[in-house]
Amino acid sequence: MSTASPRHMDVAVVTARDREDVLVGNEIVRHNRASRLIHWAVAITFIYCLLTGLPIWTPAFTWMAHLFGGLSVCRVVHPWIGLAFFLFSALMFFQWLSDMHFEPNEKGWLGPRLFQYMRYETDDSEVGKYNGGQKALFWAVSLGALGLLLSGLMMWFPRSFPRPLMEVAFLIHDFTFICFGVAIVFHVYLGTAAEPGTFGSMTRGTVTRAWARLHHPRWYREVTGEKPPR
Ligand code: HEM
Repeated sequence: MSTASPRHMDVAVVTARDREDVLVGNEIVRHNRASRLIHWAVAITFIYCLLTGLPIWTPAFTWMAHLFGGLSVCRVVHPWIGLAFFLFSALMFFQWLSDMHFEPNEKGWLGPRLFQYMRYETDDSEVGKYNGGQKALFWAVSLGALGLLLSGLMMWFPRSFPRPLMEVAFLIHDFTFICFGVAIVFHVYLGTAAEPGTFGSMTRGTVTRAWARLHHPRWYREVTGEKPPR
């Protein structure tokens, strides 16, 4: 017979929620507190950089600058928040790296199969904690963050670099933030409206068993010990 009081059980549940890939009651912990904090720090700094960067990029967005105290404020604040964005992205990279290696059967995700990232349900019973589309996004945003940092540093200190190199930096910065912006629109759609139950994994940290079985069947089996379907 268990002697644990309700208070002790609460503590046990909170402690379990700091771990990942474990069952807590009828739910599975998908992202621990550190992962969630880092992810939201990346998301907030990215959106802040986007909103302060657009008015610097083109006069069509000058109106946005008023939300942040004017264009000159945007010019000062944008590179500093950009630095913070890179640092949080680097933390996110090391936090998730071990789960993001492509397995041999996932190479196809780098081709037309990438569009299956948009499908609600998978018929592949071997999808682990992250599918190939999620891994592709992870590598793309990690590389993109590095590209934005390097080109951004050059734009911050333009007199230190020759003119042709500066033009390449502008091209890289603009191309990368546009690709980033488009990818994040799809990412937000998938993480909210397209796949109910996913957003909770980044707020509470947990998902239901049904969600895990539907989207990440192999991960579900690894966590619960359930046998694969015949
Ligand atoms: C601002 C709104 C955002 C929302 C609502 C959102 C939502 C989510 C959710 C729910 C997950 C967990 C998916 C899962 O466990 O299967 C996730 C993962 C992730 N997020 Fe975000 N996110 C946002 C912004 C961002 C931004 C700005 C970046 C990068 C700059 C980013 C990068 C990632 C990466 C790399 C993953 C792991 C791979 C994946 O699940 O696709 N997110 N996000």
